Amino acid sequence: MPTIRVVDKGVEVPSQGADPILFVLWDNRVTITSICGGNCSCGACNIEVLEGMENLNPVSDEEARVLSKIKRQGPNVRLACQCVPNGDVAIRIVPED
Ligand code: FES
Repeated sequence: MPTIRVVDKGVEVPSQGADPILFVLWDNRVTITSICGGNCSCGACNIEVLEGMENLNPVSDEEARVLSKIKRQGPNVRLACQCVPNGDVAIRIVPED
């Protein structure tokens, strides 16, 4: 079972099937901000992927649009509500400005 290591929180949680990282973290009581509830519109759930980017689904046009809107584009930045791991990943939850 893939794991999600949240480096800045010092925790590691098991990935759960097809659930996006956001919901896996919430299920494991790891705090990460969301305003839209995981509907890919607020951008508050942005994360930095430190390891395992190859284990995530590709960025969709919708996710790219939101990342562009919040000016958080970069090769390692994703939205936790849009990432489904199929292998181990290490992330950092990007603090809000
Ligand atoms: S929770 Fe709003 S964009 Fe991910």
